Amino acid sequence: MVDILITGGAGFIGSTFVRAALSGELPGLAGARITVLDKLTYSGNRANLAPVADHPGWRLVTGDIADGDLVDTLMRGQDAVVHFAAETHVDRSIHGGGEFVRTNVLGTQVLLESAVRHRVDRFVHVSTDEVYGSIDLGSWDESQPVAPNSPYSASKAGSDLLALAYHRTHGLAVSVTRCSNNYGPYQFPEKMVPLFVTNLLDGRPVPLYGDGRQVRDWLHVSDHCRGVALVLAGGHPGAVYNIGGGTELTNMELTRRLLRACGVGPDRIEHVADRPGHDRRYSVDWTRIRTELGYRPQVPFDAGLAATVDWYRSHRSWWEPLRVAA
Ligand SMILES: NC(=O)c1ccc[n+]([C@@H]2O[C@H](COP(=O)([O-])OP(=O)(O)OC[C@H]3O[C@@H](n4cnc5c(N)ncnc54)[C@H](O)[C@@H]3O)[C@@H](O)[C@H]2O)c1
Repeated sequence: MVDILITGGAGFIGSTFVRAALSGELPGLAGARITVLDKLTYSGNRANLAPVADHPGWRLVTGDIADGDLVDTLMRGQDAVVHFAAETHVDRSIHGGGEFVRTNVLGTQVLLESAVRHRVDRFVHVSTDEVYGSIDLGSWDESQPVAPNSPYSASKAGSDLLALAYHRTHGLAVSVTRCSNNYGPYQFPEKMVPLFVTNLLDGRPVPLYGDGRQVRDWLHVSDHCRGVALVLAGGHPGAVYNIGGGTELTNMELTRRLLRACGVGPDRIEHVADRPGHDRRYSVDWTRIRTELGYRPQVPFDAGLAATVDWYRSHRSWWEPLRVAA
């Protein structure tokens, strides 16, 4: 039996991880006892955990990862931490970076320090490929220095460096994961896929930034969670693992596929001014996690996207109240 503290477990990816772990779908986590620590910000949602509400293997503690006393209380007796909690939306970080630094940098440092104090065996810090900056050709491997461009990615890069420093300085068994863009059910409808799908389902236009030629690698959230579980079980302390292997698409091409999936035409595209500092292309080389830990994405993009669109179509009651906050 393993006790695991999962931060941000009521958000999009964290809740997918919790649901999958409790359903026995993740390697190495059968029988785990899970404590979710989540502040339930605008993007955290109890409803994301409703499918496992009656499972006895977890509890939700509503609180802030930057609250040192609370974190210390919860950290006692934990074997592992999987750290998803963050402020995550680039556009919000452009309008105000304060919460991003407080949660992503300071909050991560509070968790790391407490994990050292309580001699936690494993700590997985969940990060993003956005810390590398933008790349026109080729792919980044994990030796690439960080060069973030948005306040969001800069705060994530800061937290990655702290995590690695706590390994080198204190011997904490931290691994860092850097994943490409996720899509799937339960994603807050401010991010591109759920925003566009819910707009289309409501008969509205979709706002496409700039020329729409920005390239992203899209990975189903369940593949990301499997990658994180593999790193938790077998990743090397002090190592960074890129998680990718989805499908590289321009935003324009993704938009076309979403329009098709929703049965509407290109007249629904509304071209809007580009996001300041918008990264042109992300692309990770995920050889390390494939060769060391046997990771492979399992969800084909077109099937995953079709299932995701269907999910939003049949879960209006989940997303309609959230659009007010978006
Ligand atoms: N979404 C992606 O495509 C993607 C890709 C790569 C990496 N990531 C990383 O994965 C992690 C999860 O992302 P997501 O898309 O699920 O985000 P999300 O915004 O859906 O969820 C974030 C969760 O963190 C919680 N939270 C925020 N501040 C907190 C605080 N101070 N204390 C406790 N809880 C707090 C929120 O309530 C929410 O439940 C993040 O660290 C993000 O950087 C996301």
